[in-house]
Amino acid sequence: MPFRTYMDWALHDPEHGAYGRGRLCIGPRGDFATAPSLGPDFAALLAAQLADWLLQLDPAQPGQRPLAIVEAGPGEGSLAADLAAALAAGWPELAARTELVLVEPNGGMAARQRQRLDGCPLPCRWASFAELAEAPLRGVLLAHEVIDALAVERIVWDGALWRQQQVVLHGGAGGAEPSLRLEPGEPLEPATGEALQALGLRPPSPQRPAGWCTELHPGLAPWLGQAAAALCAGALLVIDYALEAWRYYAPQRANGTLLAYRAQQACADPLIAPGEADLTAHLCIDSLEWAAAATGWQGLGGCRQGEALLALGLAQRLHGLQGEPGGLAQLLPRREALLRLVDPHALGDFRWLAYSRGPQPLGTPRFLQEPPGPNG
Ligand SMILES: C[S@@+](CC[C@H](N)C(=O)[O-])C[C@H]1O[C@@H](n2cnc3c(N)ncnc32)[C@H](O)[C@@H]1O
Repeated sequence: MPFRTYMDWALHDPEHGAYGRGRLCIGPRGDFATAPSLGPDFAALLAAQLADWLLQLDPAQPGQRPLAIVEAGPGEGSLAADLAAALAAGWPELAARTELVLVEPNGGMAARQRQRLDGCPLPCRWASFAELAEAPLRGVLLAHEVIDALAVERIVWDGALWRQQQVVLHGGAGGAEPSLRLEPGEPLEPATGEALQALGLRPPSPQRPAGWCTELHPGLAPWLGQAAAALCAGALLVIDYALEAWRYYAPQRANGTLLAYRAQQACADPLIAPGEADLTAHLCIDSLEWAAAATGWQGLGGCRQGEALLALGLAQRLHGLQGEPGGLAQLLPRREALLRLVDPHALGDFRWLAYSRGPQPLGTPRFLQEPPGPNG
Protein backbone atom coordinates (compact mmCIF):
# COMPACT_ATOMS: atom_id res chain seq x y z
CA MET A 1 0.00 0.00 0.00
CA PRO A 2 1.16 3.62 -0.45
CA PHE A 3 2.97 4.94 2.63
CA ARG A 4 0.23 7.54 3.08
CA THR A 5 -2.40 4.81 3.56
CA TYR A 6 -0.14 2.98 6.02
CA MET A 7 0.36 6.15 8.08
CA ASP A 8 -3.36 6.89 8.08
CA TRP A 9 -4.20 3.38 9.30
CA ALA A 10 -1.38 3.25 11.87
CA LEU A 11 -2.63 6.48 13.44
CA HIS A 12 -6.36 6.59 12.86
CA ASP A 13 -7.80 3.10 12.43
CA PRO A 14 -10.58 3.01 15.06
CA GLU A 15 -9.62 -0.49 16.25
CA HIS A 16 -5.82 -0.58 15.81
CA GLY A 17 -4.65 3.02 15.25
CA ALA A 18 -2.47 4.75 17.85
CA TYR A 19 -4.88 7.72 18.08
CA GLY A 20 -7.94 5.90 16.74
CA ARG A 21 -8.23 3.64 19.76
CA GLY A 22 -6.83 6.29 22.13
CA ARG A 23 -3.64 4.38 22.96
CA LEU A 24 -1.15 7.27 22.86
CA CYS A 25 -0.59 9.24 26.06
CA ILE A 26 0.69 12.80 25.81
CA GLY A 27 2.81 14.29 28.60
CA PRO A 28 6.24 14.03 30.23
CA ARG A 29 5.29 10.57 31.55
CA GLY A 30 3.49 9.49 28.38
CA ASP A 31 4.70 8.70 24.87
CA PHE A 32 5.80 12.26 24.09
CA ALA A 33 5.45 15.69 25.66
CA THR A 34 3.89 18.74 23.98
CA ALA A 35 4.04 22.36 25.17
CA PRO A 36 0.58 22.34 26.84
CA SER A 37 1.34 19.03 28.55
CA LEU A 38 4.16 20.73 30.53
CA GLY A 39 1.72 22.82 32.59
CA PRO A 40 -0.79 25.68 32.34
CA ASP A 41 1.71 28.51 31.61
CA PHE A 42 1.71 27.89 27.85
CA ALA A 43 -2.07 28.30 27.66
CA ALA A 44 -2.00 31.31 29.99
CA LEU A 45 0.40 33.11 27.61
CA LEU A 46 -1.46 32.05 24.48
CA ALA A 47 -4.78 33.20 26.00
CA ALA A 48 -3.71 36.86 25.59
CA GLN A 49 -3.40 36.34 21.82
CA LEU A 50 -6.75 34.54 21.58
CA ALA A 51 -8.49 37.21 23.67
CA ASP A 52 -7.03 39.90 21.39
CA TRP A 53 -8.44 38.20 18.29
CA LEU A 54 -11.81 37.46 19.90
CA LEU A 55 -12.17 41.10 21.01
CA GLN A 56 -11.46 42.25 17.43
CA LEU A 57 -14.24 39.94 16.19
CA ASP A 58 -16.72 40.80 18.93
CA PRO A 59 -19.34 43.41 18.12
CA ALA A 60 -21.01 42.50 21.50
CA GLN A 61 -24.49 43.02 20.08
CA PRO A 62 -27.46 41.50 21.88
CA GLY A 63 -28.68 38.28 20.26
CA GLN A 64 -25.32 37.71 18.50
CA ARG A 65 -24.18 34.06 18.35
CA PRO A 66 -21.34 33.30 20.75
CA LEU A 67 -17.74 33.50 19.65
CA ALA A 68 -15.80 30.27 19.50
CA ILE A 69 -12.40 28.90 20.37
CA VAL A 70 -12.09 25.83 18.17
CA GLU A 71 -9.27 23.40 18.87
CA ALA A 72 -8.49 20.77 16.26
CA GLY A 73 -6.74 17.67 17.58
CA PRO A 74 -6.96 18.44 21.31
CA GLY A 75 -5.02 15.33 22.43
CA GLU A 76 -5.51 14.96 26.18
CA GLY A 77 -7.61 18.18 26.28
CA SER A 78 -5.00 20.02 28.40
CA LEU A 79 -4.64 23.05 26.13
CA ALA A 80 -8.42 23.51 25.77
CA ALA A 81 -8.98 23.15 29.53
CA ASP A 82 -6.16 25.53 30.47
CA LEU A 83 -7.18 28.10 27.85
CA ALA A 84 -10.77 28.08 29.09
CA ALA A 85 -9.55 28.60 32.66
CA ALA A 86 -7.19 31.44 31.61
CA LEU A 87 -9.89 33.19 29.57
CA ALA A 88 -12.46 32.89 32.36
CA ALA A 89 -9.95 34.30 34.88
CA GLY A 90 -8.48 37.11 32.77
CA TRP A 91 -11.36 38.14 30.47
CA PRO A 92 -14.56 37.02 32.26
CA GLU A 93 -16.96 39.10 30.12
CA LEU A 94 -15.44 37.79 26.91
CA ALA A 95 -15.45 34.24 28.29
CA ALA A 96 -19.19 34.58 28.97
CA ARG A 97 -19.73 35.12 25.21
CA THR A 98 -17.37 32.34 24.07
CA GLU A 99 -17.85 28.61 23.55
CA LEU A 100 -15.21 25.92 23.22
CA VAL A 101 -15.48 23.56 20.26
CA LEU A 102 -13.28 20.46 19.95
CA VAL A 103 -12.65 18.82 16.56
CA GLU A 104 -11.41 15.29 17.20
CA PRO A 105 -12.00 12.48 14.68
CA ASN A 106 -10.59 9.75 16.96
CA GLY A 107 -13.14 8.38 19.40
CA GLY A 108 -10.54 7.05 21.82
CA MET A 109 -8.96 10.51 22.24
CA ALA A 110 -12.33 12.29 22.44
CA ALA A 111 -13.29 10.09 25.41
CA ARG A 112 -10.20 11.27 27.32
CA GLN A 113 -10.87 14.91 26.39
CA ARG A 114 -14.43 14.68 27.80
CA GLN A 115 -13.01 13.57 31.14
CA ARG A 116 -10.38 16.34 31.21
CA LEU A 117 -12.93 19.01 30.28
CA ASP A 118 -15.50 17.98 32.85
CA GLY A 119 -16.23 21.19 34.81
CA CYS A 120 -14.81 23.48 32.06
CA PRO A 121 -15.90 27.10 32.72
CA LEU A 122 -16.93 27.62 29.05
CA PRO A 123 -19.75 25.80 27.27
CA CYS A 124 -18.05 22.95 25.48
CA ARG A 125 -18.98 20.67 22.55
CA TRP A 126 -17.39 18.26 20.06
CA ALA A 127 -18.10 18.59 16.32
CA SER A 128 -16.54 17.73 12.98
CA PHE A 129 -15.54 20.42 10.47
CA ALA A 130 -18.39 19.21 8.24
CA GLU A 131 -20.92 19.74 11.07
CA LEU A 132 -19.51 23.19 11.84
CA ALA A 133 -19.74 24.14 8.15
CA GLU A 134 -23.54 23.96 8.42
CA ALA A 135 -23.46 27.06 10.67
CA PRO A 136 -19.95 28.51 10.37
CA LEU A 137 -18.44 30.13 13.46
CA ARG A 138 -16.71 33.41 14.28
CA GLY A 139 -13.66 32.86 16.37
CA VAL A 140 -10.20 31.36 16.55
CA LEU A 141 -9.14 27.95 15.30
CA LEU A 142 -6.09 26.44 16.97
CA ALA A 143 -4.06 23.69 15.35
CA HIS A 144 -1.38 22.76 17.88
CA GLU A 145 0.65 19.74 16.78
CA VAL A 146 -2.22 18.34 14.75
CA ILE A 147 -1.35 19.02 11.10
CA ASP A 148 1.78 16.93 11.62
CA ALA A 149 -0.55 13.96 12.20
CA LEU A 150 -2.04 14.23 8.67
CA ALA A 151 -0.77 11.31 6.61
CA VAL A 152 2.12 12.26 4.31
CA GLU A 153 3.15 10.82 0.97
CA ARG A 154 6.75 9.55 0.98
CA ILE A 155 8.66 9.79 -2.25
CA VAL A 156 11.96 8.15 -3.24
CA TRP A 157 14.46 9.11 -5.96
CA ASP A 158 15.59 5.90 -7.71
CA GLY A 159 18.36 7.56 -9.76
CA ALA A 160 16.11 8.14 -12.77
CA LEU A 161 12.58 8.76 -11.48
CA TRP A 162 10.66 9.92 -8.45
CA ARG A 163 8.58 7.06 -7.05
CA GLN A 164 5.89 6.84 -4.42
CA GLN A 165 7.18 4.85 -1.45
CA GLN A 166 5.08 1.88 -0.45
CA VAL A 167 4.80 -0.44 2.53
CA VAL A 168 4.98 -4.11 1.57
CA LEU A 169 4.17 -7.17 3.67
CA HIS A 170 6.73 -9.97 3.18
CA GLY A 171 6.86 -13.57 4.35
CA GLY A 172 4.26 -15.16 6.53
CA ALA A 173 4.26 -18.35 4.43
CA GLY A 174 5.52 -21.63 5.87
CA GLY A 175 5.60 -20.35 9.44
CA ALA A 176 8.00 -17.47 8.64
CA GLU A 177 7.38 -14.32 10.67
CA PRO A 178 5.73 -11.76 8.35
CA SER A 179 7.45 -8.37 8.18
CA LEU A 180 6.81 -4.95 6.70
CA ARG A 181 9.29 -3.23 4.38
CA LEU A 182 9.57 0.15 2.69
CA GLU A 183 10.02 -0.15 -1.09
CA PRO A 184 9.90 2.18 -4.08
CA GLY A 185 6.53 1.85 -5.82
CA GLU A 186 4.89 3.44 -8.86
CA PRO A 187 6.47 6.50 -10.56
CA LEU A 188 4.82 9.75 -9.47
CA GLU A 189 1.97 11.06 -11.59
CA PRO A 190 3.20 13.69 -14.10
CA ALA A 191 0.80 16.19 -12.45
CA THR A 192 2.91 16.09 -9.28
CA GLY A 193 5.86 17.43 -11.30
CA GLU A 194 4.76 21.04 -10.86
CA ALA A 195 4.59 20.63 -7.08
CA LEU A 196 8.10 19.10 -7.07
CA GLN A 197 9.39 22.05 -9.09
CA ALA A 198 7.96 24.53 -6.56
CA LEU A 199 9.69 22.63 -3.75
CA GLY A 200 13.07 22.63 -5.51
CA LEU A 201 13.02 18.89 -6.30
CA ARG A 202 13.06 19.30 -10.09
CA PRO A 203 15.28 19.02 -11.99
CA PRO A 204 16.85 16.36 -9.77
CA SER A 205 20.13 17.43 -8.24
CA PRO A 206 23.20 15.17 -8.54
CA GLN A 207 23.61 15.71 -4.78
CA ARG A 208 20.58 13.46 -4.22
CA PRO A 209 21.70 9.83 -4.71
CA ALA A 210 19.36 6.93 -5.47
CA GLY A 211 17.39 6.12 -2.31
CA TRP A 212 17.05 9.80 -1.26
CA CYS A 213 13.65 10.05 0.35
CA THR A 214 11.34 12.80 1.58
CA GLU A 215 7.70 13.66 2.22
CA LEU A 216 4.93 15.56 0.41
CA HIS A 217 1.83 16.89 2.19
CA PRO A 218 -1.23 16.16 0.04
CA GLY A 219 -3.55 16.31 3.06
CA LEU A 220 -2.89 20.00 3.78
CA ALA A 221 -5.17 21.72 1.28
CA PRO A 222 -8.18 19.44 1.94
CA TRP A 223 -7.78 19.96 5.71
CA LEU A 224 -7.40 23.75 5.40
CA GLY A 225 -10.38 23.85 3.03
CA GLN A 226 -12.58 22.05 5.58
CA ALA A 227 -11.30 24.35 8.32
CA ALA A 228 -12.12 27.41 6.19
CA ALA A 229 -15.67 26.19 5.64
CA ALA A 230 -16.13 25.84 9.41
CA LEU A 231 -15.10 29.44 10.19
CA CYS A 232 -16.87 32.38 8.51
CA ALA A 233 -14.65 34.95 10.23
CA GLY A 234 -11.61 34.73 12.43
CA ALA A 235 -8.08 33.50 12.80
CA LEU A 236 -6.26 30.20 12.39
CA LEU A 237 -3.12 29.64 14.43
CA VAL A 238 -0.93 26.71 13.38
CA ILE A 239 1.76 25.74 15.90
CA ASP A 240 4.02 22.92 14.81
CA TYR A 241 7.49 21.79 13.80
CA ALA A 242 7.97 23.38 10.38
CA LEU A 243 10.75 24.16 7.92
CA GLU A 244 11.03 26.36 4.84
CA ALA A 245 11.11 24.28 1.61
CA TRP A 246 14.81 25.03 1.02
CA ARG A 247 15.67 23.53 4.40
CA TYR A 248 13.09 20.73 4.27
CA TYR A 249 14.24 19.49 0.88
CA ALA A 250 17.96 20.23 1.30
CA PRO A 251 20.06 17.40 -0.23
CA GLN A 252 21.62 16.53 3.15
CA ARG A 253 18.16 15.73 4.64
CA ALA A 254 18.23 12.36 2.90
CA ASN A 255 15.49 10.63 4.87
CA GLY A 256 12.91 13.39 5.27
CA THR A 257 11.63 14.40 8.70
CA LEU A 258 9.37 11.50 9.61
CA LEU A 259 9.73 10.13 13.15
CA ALA A 260 7.95 7.54 15.26
CA TYR A 261 7.49 8.35 18.97
CA ARG A 262 6.73 5.91 21.76
CA ALA A 263 7.57 5.97 25.46
CA GLN A 264 9.64 9.18 25.05
CA GLN A 265 11.84 7.54 22.38
CA ALA A 266 12.09 8.89 18.84
CA CYS A 267 12.92 6.50 16.00
CA ALA A 268 13.44 7.18 12.28
CA ASP A 269 11.86 3.83 11.31
CA PRO A 270 8.13 4.42 10.75
CA LEU A 271 7.46 0.67 10.64
CA ILE A 272 8.72 0.05 14.15
CA ALA A 273 5.42 -0.40 15.95
CA PRO A 274 2.37 0.19 13.75
CA GLY A 275 -0.58 1.31 15.85
CA GLU A 276 1.57 1.70 18.97
CA ALA A 277 3.69 4.74 18.08
CA ASP A 278 2.92 8.29 17.00
CA LEU A 279 4.07 9.06 13.46
CA THR A 280 4.85 12.67 12.74
CA ALA A 281 6.40 14.66 9.89
CA HIS A 282 7.41 18.34 9.97
CA LEU A 283 5.31 20.84 8.05
CA CYS A 284 6.79 22.50 4.96
CA ILE A 285 6.11 26.22 5.41
CA ASP A 286 5.96 26.91 1.67
CA SER A 287 3.46 24.06 1.13
CA LEU A 288 1.37 25.36 4.04
CA GLU A 289 1.41 28.93 2.68
CA TRP A 290 0.39 27.70 -0.75
CA ALA A 291 -2.44 25.48 0.59
CA ALA A 292 -3.69 28.27 2.90
CA ALA A 293 -3.84 30.80 0.06
CA ALA A 294 -5.59 28.25 -2.19
CA THR A 295 -8.30 27.65 0.43
CA GLY A 296 -9.13 31.27 1.29
CA TRP A 297 -6.84 32.05 4.26
CA GLN A 298 -4.87 35.33 4.34
CA GLY A 299 -1.44 35.12 5.95
CA LEU A 300 -0.93 37.25 9.09
CA GLY A 301 2.70 36.26 9.59
CA GLY A 302 4.68 33.87 11.67
CA CYS A 303 7.73 33.40 13.88
CA ARG A 304 9.42 30.88 16.15
CA GLN A 305 7.67 29.86 19.36
CA GLY A 306 10.40 31.34 21.55
CA GLU A 307 9.90 34.78 20.00
CA ALA A 308 6.09 34.48 20.13
CA LEU A 309 6.01 33.58 23.82
CA LEU A 310 8.47 36.35 24.74
CA ALA A 311 6.21 38.83 22.90
CA LEU A 312 3.26 37.52 24.94
CA GLY A 313 5.07 38.09 28.23
CA LEU A 314 7.00 34.92 29.05
CA ALA A 315 9.94 36.81 30.57
CA GLN A 316 7.60 38.71 32.93
CA ARG A 317 5.90 35.46 33.87
CA LEU A 318 9.25 33.85 34.64
CA HIS A 319 10.24 36.82 36.75
CA GLY A 320 6.86 36.86 38.52
CA LEU A 321 7.30 33.24 39.66
CA GLN A 322 9.49 34.53 42.50
CA GLY A 323 6.53 36.26 44.15
CA GLU A 324 4.06 33.38 43.71
CA PRO A 325 2.89 31.23 46.59
CA GLY A 326 4.02 27.60 46.66
CA GLY A 327 7.28 25.98 47.61
CA LEU A 328 10.30 25.27 45.48
CA ALA A 329 8.84 21.89 44.60
CA GLN A 330 6.09 23.67 42.62
CA LEU A 331 8.04 26.64 41.31
CA LEU A 332 11.10 24.85 39.93
CA PRO A 333 9.18 22.59 37.51
CA ARG A 334 7.21 25.62 36.27
CA ARG A 335 10.45 27.54 35.77
CA GLU A 336 11.95 24.61 33.88
CA ALA A 337 8.82 24.25 31.72
CA LEU A 338 8.87 27.97 30.81
CA LEU A 339 12.52 27.71 29.80
CA ARG A 340 11.85 24.59 27.70
CA LEU A 341 9.13 26.50 25.83
CA VAL A 342 11.64 29.09 24.57
CA ASP A 343 14.75 26.94 24.29
CA PRO A 344 15.77 27.13 20.59
CA HIS A 345 17.02 23.53 20.80
CA ALA A 346 13.68 22.32 22.18
CA LEU A 347 10.12 23.65 21.90
CA GLY A 348 11.30 27.22 21.19
CA ASP A 349 12.04 26.22 17.58
CA PHE A 350 8.37 25.42 16.85
CA ARG A 351 6.72 27.80 14.37
CA TRP A 352 3.65 29.92 15.01
CA LEU A 353 1.91 30.68 11.69
CA ALA A 354 -1.27 32.79 11.69
CA TYR A 355 -3.96 33.25 9.04
CA SER A 356 -7.31 35.02 8.90
CA ARG A 357 -10.50 34.93 6.91
CA GLY A 358 -13.74 36.87 6.80
CA PRO A 359 -14.91 40.37 5.97
CA GLN A 360 -13.00 42.12 8.74
CA PRO A 361 -9.18 42.15 8.46
CA LEU A 362 -7.42 41.28 11.71
CA GLY A 363 -4.44 43.39 12.81
CA THR A 364 -0.86 42.23 13.27
CA PRO A 365 -0.94 39.41 15.82
CA ARG A 366 0.18 40.40 19.28
CA PHE A 367 2.76 37.61 19.24
CA LEU A 368 4.56 39.40 16.36
CA GLN A 369 4.75 42.72 18.18
CA GLU A 370 7.38 44.02 20.60
CA PRO A 371 7.48 42.18 23.96
CA PRO A 372 5.91 44.09 26.87
CA GLY A 373 8.19 46.45 28.83
CA PRO A 374 9.54 45.69 32.32
CA ASN A 375 6.24 46.72 33.96
CA GLY A 376 4.23 44.29 31.84
C1 LIG B 1 0.02 15.17 18.71
S1 LIG B 1 -1.62 15.19 19.27
C2 LIG B 1 -1.73 16.90 19.71
C3 LIG B 1 -2.45 17.10 20.99
C4 LIG B 1 -2.57 18.52 21.53
N1 LIG B 1 -2.92 19.48 20.52
C5 LIG B 1 -1.33 18.89 22.25
O1 LIG B 1 -0.56 19.65 21.70
O2 LIG B 1 -1.08 18.42 23.36
C6 LIG B 1 -2.58 15.07 17.80
C7 LIG B 1 -4.08 15.12 18.02
O3 LIG B 1 -4.72 15.35 16.77
C8 LIG B 1 -5.78 14.40 16.58
N2 LIG B 1 -5.98 14.29 15.12
C9 LIG B 1 -5.37 13.49 14.25
N3 LIG B 1 -5.80 13.74 12.99
C10 LIG B 1 -6.70 14.75 13.09
C11 LIG B 1 -7.49 15.47 12.13
N4 LIG B 1 -7.47 15.17 10.84
N5 LIG B 1 -8.29 16.47 12.59
C12 LIG B 1 -8.34 16.77 13.92
N6 LIG B 1 -7.62 16.10 14.85
C13 LIG B 1 -6.80 15.11 14.44
C14 LIG B 1 -5.27 13.19 17.31
O4 LIG B 1 -6.29 12.25 17.59
C15 LIG B 1 -4.71 13.85 18.57
O5 LIG B 1 -5.73 14.18 19.47
